[in-house]
Amino acid sequence: MSLKTTRRIALAGLIAVAMAGPAMAQAFPTKPVTIIVSFAAGGPSDVIARLLGEQMSKTLGQPVLVENVAGAGGTAGAKRMAAAEPDGHTILIHHLALAAAPALYGNLGYDTKTDFVPIGLVNTGPMVVASKLALPTTDAKSFFAYAKANADKLSLAHAGVGSNSHLCGVLMSQILGVKFTEVAYRGTGPAMNDLVGGQIDFLCDQSTSAVSQIQGEKIRAYAVTSTERLDVLPNVPTAIETGTKLEMTIWHGLYAPKGTPTAVLDKLNGALRAALKQPAVLDKFMAFGTTVFPESEWTREAHGKRFVAEVDKWGASLKAAGIKPQS
Ligand code: MLT
Repeated sequence: MSLKTTRRIALAGLIAVAMAGPAMAQAFPTKPVTIIVSFAAGGPSDVIARLLGEQMSKTLGQPVLVENVAGAGGTAGAKRMAAAEPDGHTILIHHLALAAAPALYGNLGYDTKTDFVPIGLVNTGPMVVASKLALPTTDAKSFFAYAKANADKLSLAHAGVGSNSHLCGVLMSQILGVKFTEVAYRGTGPAMNDLVGGQIDFLCDQSTSAVSQIQGEKIRAYAVTSTERLDVLPNVPTAIETGTKLEMTIWHGLYAPKGTPTAVLDKLNGALRAALKQPAVLDKFMAFGTTVFPESEWTREAHGKRFVAEVDKWGASLKAAGIKPQS
């Protein structure tokens, strides 16, 4: 083979490689897209993921499936996604636990700030402090006083170290200056079932899961962690109103693995934006006591900015609280 021919073949090869990225992005998705949920089925992250997936599939033209990869406070699912093929067919829904994890776990198996590429913010809302009906407390004041006096006897359910429900319990423990007996679940879906069944004493869960159980009088709500009451729970005060400075706002976002082509990320962001405008999503969010972010924050950049700020914020506040990463 002449030198000229060899050069021509090499050049053709380079062009083919360069074209493969944009062509792949153009064709995306070529098969079902899977959203990894890092917590058990039936919990708030799972519910939000399924609602979104149903709508996003209409824009993407492919089914959007949900896979629950629960465990280790949501870090098992994050690890699975970080190792996935970066082609947009495997994405992750996660919340502030993804940002808090580096302050709590020594060996995550991924780099929180660089292995996840933001696709867009999904929803934001408060937590609700609630107990089983059998607890002898009727309002926030009596509950927080009872919790302080009987902390060693009370079981606090949560979805693993670093989950929202765990962090809410940590904040409450710090405010009251006590330590509860913690019971870790693979998500607040099963924890909520046990709260309704009376097997555990109390739980601080996202409004997404808590509201319907409170309205159905299956559990007793004491306080929401937002600065304003929720329209769907008008009789439940904010913790701040009752004199307990428990304030916490949760949020979900979608992520793709590092290396996912920009055009694929843009397509996923577009499908997410379209889903967030659907009455089917907005009505459900309203019923859950959760909301979409302002449209100005629907960009991938806004999500990235919030994510990095939350990693830094939770890193600093957990360190200040004397909490060290566990291996
Ligand atoms: C879940 O879906 O189980 C929750 O998002 C867990 C939590 O963070 O409390």
